[in-house]
Amino acid sequence: MSTKTASHNPRDSKHAALEAADQASRSRGEITPIEHMVKPDDRLIMAHDPYDPRCEKIRALRTELLLRRESIDRANIVALLSPCPGEGRSLLAAELAIAFAQMGRPTLLVDADLRRPQQHVLFGTDNRQGLTQAIEYGVKPQLHTVQGLTRMSVLTAGAVPHNPLELLSSSCFVSMIEDWRDNFEFIVIDTAPVMHFSDGLAVASLVGRVLALSRAQHTPYKDMQDMLRRLAATRSQILGAVISHF
Ligand SMILES: Nc1ncnc2c1ncn2[C@@H]1O[C@H](COP(=O)(O)OP(=O)(O)OP(=O)(O)O)[C@@H](O)[C@H]1O
Ligand SMILES: [Mg+2]
Repeated sequence: MSTKTASHNPRDSKHAALEAADQASRSRGEITPIEHMVKPDDRLIMAHDPYDPRCEKIRALRTELLLRRESIDRANIVALLSPCPGEGRSLLAAELAIAFAQMGRPTLLVDADLRRPQQHVLFGTDNRQGLTQAIEYGVKPQLHTVQGLTRMSVLTAGAVPHNPLELLSSSCFVSMIEDWRDNFEFIVIDTAPVMHFSDGLAVASLVGRVLALSRAQHTPYKDMQDMLRRLAATRSQILGAVISHF
């Protein structure tokens, strides 16, 4: 059996180097504070117009997911998966997280689409540091708080890496998820399209619970079937399916 010591762990030296670089550039005034308030984009209707009919549908989805909670002492964590690009995963993930946060419970939205991240755009922030860098350097992820939603945190994807699948399959990501389970009541994870990348399947197998999304007049039936077949090979449970019409 091996034991890890701080001095021999390459992650610790990377962490120290990162912190030193961060400290130096902060003292030069180059970096804005790591944890800062972000603002939901106008497209996030859930944050701006709770009476819109779309919001009623998202609240209904929230209720369905609450009814499927595993137990009250485990965080409700769900990965949003869909087969193809442009099916509305990112928007729905953000609005679902907002809906959970509006219940006044600690909620985390994670952008695990490391290929074409979008949550930093939806919350109007830069994307230099995020999930990717936290995994790469083994450091605590930099969460953003959300204006008007005191219980909500957002973790952006960070600058696009060359090895997304490897990062999302790493032990560091596994322990991050465990940490989130202890600190948040609801966690929603945005992913990359399954027919193009296996990243979503890797995330699904780690978090164990999936919401499957398709888009009317857009998602080929065969691709949805294929995604479900591939999901069955992971140990994840499909909590429900959503069809977006837009
Ligand atoms: N329910 C909706 N009604 C209207 N427009 C929508 C809806 N959902 C998504 N869109 C729009 O469709 C586009 C794609 O949405 P989004 O980025 O959420 O999809 P995605 O599946 O995450 O795409 P990608 O494959 O690029 O990650 C965006 O311009 C978004 O604003
Ligand atoms: Mg997206």
